[in-house]
This record gives sequence, C-alpha cells and structure tokens, in this order.
Amino acid sequence: MKHLHMKYSKVNKKDIEFFDELIEGNNVFFDQNTLDEYSHDETEDLKFMPCIVLKPNTAEQVSLILNYCNKKNIPVTPCGARTGLSGGSLPIFGGVVLSTERFNKIISIDERNMQATVEPGVINQIFRDAVEEKGLFYPPDPASKGSSFLGGNLAENSGGPKALKYGVTKDYVLNLEVVLPTGEIIWTGANVLKNSTGYDLTSLIVGSEGTLGIITKIVFKLIPLPTKDITLLVPFTSAEKACEAVSAIFISGITPSALEFIERDAIDWTIKYTDINMHIDSDVQAHLLIEVDGNNMDQLFLECEKITEVLDKFNCGEILIADSKEQKDRLWKMRRQVGEAVKSNSIYKEEDTVVPRAELPKLLLGVKDIGKKYGFKSVCYGHAGDGNLHVNIIKGDMSDEQWNNELYKGIREIFTLTKKLGGTISGEHGIGLVQKPYLDIVFSEKEIEIQKQIKKIFDPNNILNPGKIFN
Ligand code: LAC
Ligand code: ZN
Repeated sequence: MKHLHMKYSKVNKKDIEFFDELIEGNNVFFDQNTLDEYSHDETEDLKFMPCIVLKPNTAEQVSLILNYCNKKNIPVTPCGARTGLSGGSLPIFGGVVLSTERFNKIISIDERNMQATVEPGVINQIFRDAVEEKGLFYPPDPASKGSSFLGGNLAENSGGPKALKYGVTKDYVLNLEVVLPTGEIIWTGANVLKNSTGYDLTSLIVGSEGTLGIITKIVFKLIPLPTKDITLLVPFTSAEKACEAVSAIFISGITPSALEFIERDAIDWTIKYTDINMHIDSDVQAHLLIEVDGNNMDQLFLECEKITEVLDKFNCGEILIADSKEQKDRLWKMRRQVGEAVKSNSIYKEEDTVVPRAELPKLLLGVKDIGKKYGFKSVCYGHAGDGNLHVNIIKGDMSDEQWNNELYKGIREIFTLTKKLGGTISGEHGIGLVQKPYLDIVFSEKEIEIQKQIKKIFDPNNILNPGKIFN
C-alpha cells in the first residue's frame, strides 16, 4: 500500500464532527473495513487508504463538503462503484473519499422527449433495463455494466461494444448538474438535442475523470430500442487476418452494432475462468464476435450474408450464427468476462490503445514485436470495430527485475507506435493514475498546459481528485 504526501491537511476530529452533522444518518465512515474497501478500484493491485469515506445524497451536501474541504485544504476523491481501470477513484493523497452510491435514483424518464434524468449512483444495467421497459435504448454498455455507476461511466467517458454503431457515453449526455470543487452548483447545458450556446461544458465534464467537479444529476438522450439482432462468432487461424477483416466489413457498407476481437489466449482463459462450455479447434488463433441489430430480421440476415462474403476473403473458419436469446447471451457474457479472466491469471498491466480502424493489424503486430523485444507476453482483445485494442501485458514468469525495468520502456514503445498510427493511449478507460507517465507521447507541452489551466479554473486549490491525468 502506498501513500503520497503533499501539502494537504489531514482529516481531524473537528472535521469529522462537521461531516457527521452535515450528512444525517450514519454516512460518515472511518472504520478500518470501510477505509480498506474504498482504498482500491479494479486497477491492478493498487491500494491507497482514505482518511474518511463520506456518503452524502444531495447536491447541497456535496456542495458544503467541497466548500469546507477547499477551505481546509483536504483532498477529495469522488468514487462510484470503483470498477475503473485507470485508478481514477484512488485517493492517492488520503483525505476524503466521496462516494456517490446514495445518489441512486432514476428521477424521471420522459418518453415524450426520449430523455431521462438520473442520479450518478445508478447502475448502468438498472438504468438500461428501466428505459428498455418503455421501448427506449441507452446504448453505452461497458463490460462492467452490471455493476458500474452511470456517474463513473461519465467520468471516464465509457464505451463498450455498442459504441461502434451508437457512440460513447458523451454522445448521450445533454446536461449535467455539477458541484464545483469550490462548492458552487452549476448546470452545464440544456435539455436539448442541439446546443450552440457558449462553450460546451457538458462535454468538458464528461471524461474529466472526477477532476473538475462532482456530477449530481445527469440528463440523458435516449433512442428507440432496436428489436432484433443477430450475433456471429467467427474463428480465424490468423489473428492478423481477423484484424484485417474488420475494416473490410465497413467498407462493404455494413455498420455492425458490435465488432469485437478476442485473441486465442483470451478466450481460453475465459473458458477456464468461467463455466462456459465451448469447444475451439486447436488451430484457431482469434475470433471476431459480430452483432448486427435493427427491426427487420430479413434485413439483418442480408447483412450477415454480406458480412460472411467479406469474411470469406480473409480465410475465416466456420461461422457460428447465434440467433436464440440463450446462445447470444452466452457469447456476450463470455465476452464481458474476458477482462477479468485475463487479469486473474497473472500480475498484469492493462492498456487501452486505440487507432484508426484500418491500422489495427499494424498495431497488433507491433504489440507482439515489442513484446518479443522486451520479453513480455500480451493477450489482446477489444472493440476492433472502433480500432480500440485492450492490450494486457502479462508478467507470467518474467523476473521482478525484468518486469520493473523493461515494462515501462515497452509500454512507451507501444504507445509511440499507437500515436504514429494516428491513435491515442486510451479509448475508454481514461488516464487516471496509471497512464499519467505517458501523456507526453500524445500531447505537446502546450496541449498539456491548456488542460492544466482548465483544471486550475475549476479547482484553484487542486483539492478535487488531485494527481490524476497529470501532476
Ligand atoms: C472490456 C473492458 C476491459 O472491454 O473495457 O472488457
Ligand atoms: Zn473495453
């Protein structure tokens, strides 16, 4: 367990009394178990202890907490369900962890305007189920959708498989109530589908990783729920060929609703990790998991036919067509568990590279070559249709010395290649704590300086989620 110390004040008895009085009903915690629970997210084995965990449930309480901490110079780290993969909710300077878990209400679903207003502590799946009941669709579907909070999805601008056809979290956010680090409560936009009124603060807050303000209400845009879909599982004896086929599908005029790439090891480890029963031929090196959706089954079968024609040119194996709910659920459940399965195997570093779609084969080959050079194995999977490749670097039997000395250089090289291919270092997991040392690969000094100035305007004393994105 680590702790970074800077100029911040410790939380003292007087502070605890203040918080206790402010948040009624036992929602101030400093027992060891709770502190321990809030000391980590899903990022590697990183752990940083907070001094205190607060669970307010109104914007006014959040405002008073931030106002107080700003004056007292106490760092505040907001957190949701702590499923993040870049360390965004780790309280690296101790201080307050402010959990949004009691902000768990779906305030309204406006069917007339196809909008919903929700609090940030609502679980993604609970929200998507609630709008689906009304024939509406909230597309962003991170692998963690069964447990992650919408507020966290906004903080990291999450994607997921359906981002391919429908866009990422930011594309569904119309307006936000945000508490600033200095305590003021603002709204960022309006509940409208178009907005050319001033700077776009809504987009600035989405993806800001809890460094600019704490979101207390979200107004989402929704779309009609597509009623039909088909999933294809396509094996390849060459992982590179599988990646090459990806852009060819789009060039043929089809936009699937999901197009995922899964390397052999990733699927093997997932089968082992879960109780999913699946046979895979020994010469298969990778799979594409493809979904098309819409409202007309005949149309979807035509799209699948066209996709099959394209895939044939890339030497794919026998395609499994899943059109029963049970079969589809099984395949997508398997896909969602890949991340956890891969990580359960060894000490690892998880990367979230993204390149223009047609450059994916070059990225994959490059990652493997760089691995050979530095002596590490990688297991890759991800949202191939978006050019978004999750590269899991596995410690395996590398020595500690190799792992500590070579890894950073290897990752820098992977990111430098990503940048050269026109891409960037995070597609959907964020920079948070763990990708901070690599920001200079994708941004110039001036570009980083602009971002730091923005942070300063919102948070002049640097009390809100300090030490994230940049130092
Ligand atoms: C996934 C997470 C790791 O795609 O982003 O499974
Ligand atoms: Zn992902």
